[in-house]
Amino acid sequence: MTASPAAYLLLHLFLRLTAKTCWQCLQDGGQFCLDNNQCIVDVLTIETKCNRIVDLPINCPSVPALQYAYDDDFVRNTVLPVIAATGTDNPQKCLDNQLPSMKVYKRREANCSSLFSDVTCSGYTGIDFDRKVIVLSVRGSHGDHQYYDLWKIGNFNGTVPFLNIGRVTKKFNDNFESLWYSGLGEDLQNLIDAYPDYQLWITGYSMGASIALLTSAFIAQTGMSSPYNMKVILFGCPRCTDYDFAMWHSTNFPYSYHIIHAHDYAPRLPFFDNIDNTTLYHPRSEVWYNNDMREGDSFVICEQADQPFCSSQVQNLSNADHAHYFNMDLYRWSADGCPKNKEDYRPIAESAVKNGKTFSYDLLIVILGAVIIFL
Ligand SMILES: *[C@@H]1O[C@H](CO)[C@@H](O)[C@H](O)[C@H]1NC(C)=O
Ligand SMILES: *[C@@H]1O[C@H](CO)[C@@H](O)[C@H](O)[C@H]1NC(C)=O
Ligand SMILES: *[C@@H]1O[C@H](CO)[C@@H](O)[C@H](O)[C@H]1NC(C)=O
Ligand SMILES: *[C@@H]1O[C@H](CO)[C@@H](O)[C@H](O)[C@H]1NC(C)=O
Repeated sequence: MTASPAAYLLLHLFLRLTAKTCWQCLQDGGQFCLDNNQCIVDVLTIETKCNRIVDLPINCPSVPALQYAYDDDFVRNTVLPVIAATGTDNPQKCLDNQLPSMKVYKRREANCSSLFSDVTCSGYTGIDFDRKVIVLSVRGSHGDHQYYDLWKIGNFNGTVPFLNIGRVTKKFNDNFESLWYSGLGEDLQNLIDAYPDYQLWITGYSMGASIALLTSAFIAQTGMSSPYNMKVILFGCPRCTDYDFAMWHSTNFPYSYHIIHAHDYAPRLPFFDNIDNTTLYHPRSEVWYNNDMREGDSFVICEQADQPFCSSQVQNLSNADHAHYFNMDLYRWSADGCPKNKEDYRPIAESAVKNGKTFSYDLLIVILGAVIIFL
């Protein structure tokens, strides 16, 4: 009796595919199939029909523990103003309008370009005695010169080692150092010394999110504070860390969320450092809102760390989605000091016209970034 190919395959699969965990599976040289949660051991000879394969331990399915769960309401109503407050020279105005018990300790601004003298990075530290929280929040990029600087140095100066953790994009490390040593680090140390039992929130938007990510790692690795005492919340964060860094951060930070609005282009870039030939990864956990982020809109807590899952599945990217988080036009609301009437600051088509210049430079980054990705 000769076995039919199908029967053979079934027997073969039965013997080969076991219920090993994803980690164990990868460790044994297999690949983990998310379609059926099975380990494909003999990856070379089995013709598999699996659509969603995990081949990196960082992407083995897992979600944050319950006590560190994501809370839309907290991020929408409390973290959003902490981030939006970075948008002007007077962050207190935004906090007064939205989070009256939070007080700015010090705002810092530092030159952060080797190409232009008018390019700065900025952020502030603050304290909230009611919430027993210390915040550190970093502003996103702004202005044509900064976009050019980020593109040029970001894409052509590669990655550098970061505190024995892994490699990070040199441009973001330079910006982190400029800001940190301009006084922001000292300010934070002062606050931690004075209120050692307070929780620490590290936040930022866009380029500021990348700087905040490195800042959180610096704080943990130098022992300034435990990652168990920190909440890291990032909006529209560009990739800036290698696999080792992403793995380290994912393993050590129980509460770290980077939020992605629909087709926002920024978190999708860059993909690869082609100077040092290093693939870049986001640390966990991605929160993806594939909608307008209105109140009540759905979101996904990605069970994988980074591509090709969750937000990385959509191909057409958007500039407008980068400017709009939680159904707010971040730039306008932020520039006006976060007025209480949020309805006046909902995204409108007109704002894309107003920001025409920003739009074109952002687009330049996308196009050139894409060229590099596909080289
Ligand atoms: C940045 O550098 C310029 C000179 O290149 C200087 O005038 C300016 O004060 C510096 N700004 C900050 C925030 O240090
Ligand atoms: C970027 O790389 C170029 C070429 O190696 C070098 O001349 C320049 O100093 C670097 N700039 C920064 C900010 O790293
Ligand atoms: C990266 O890869 C390119 C193309 O294969 C090669 O020319 C270059 O030397 C590599 N760079 C490093 C730092 O290994
Ligand atoms: C992306 O493409 C899909 C399908 O073609 C379309 O429905 C969606 O509106 C596009 N989104 C953007 C941001 O271009």
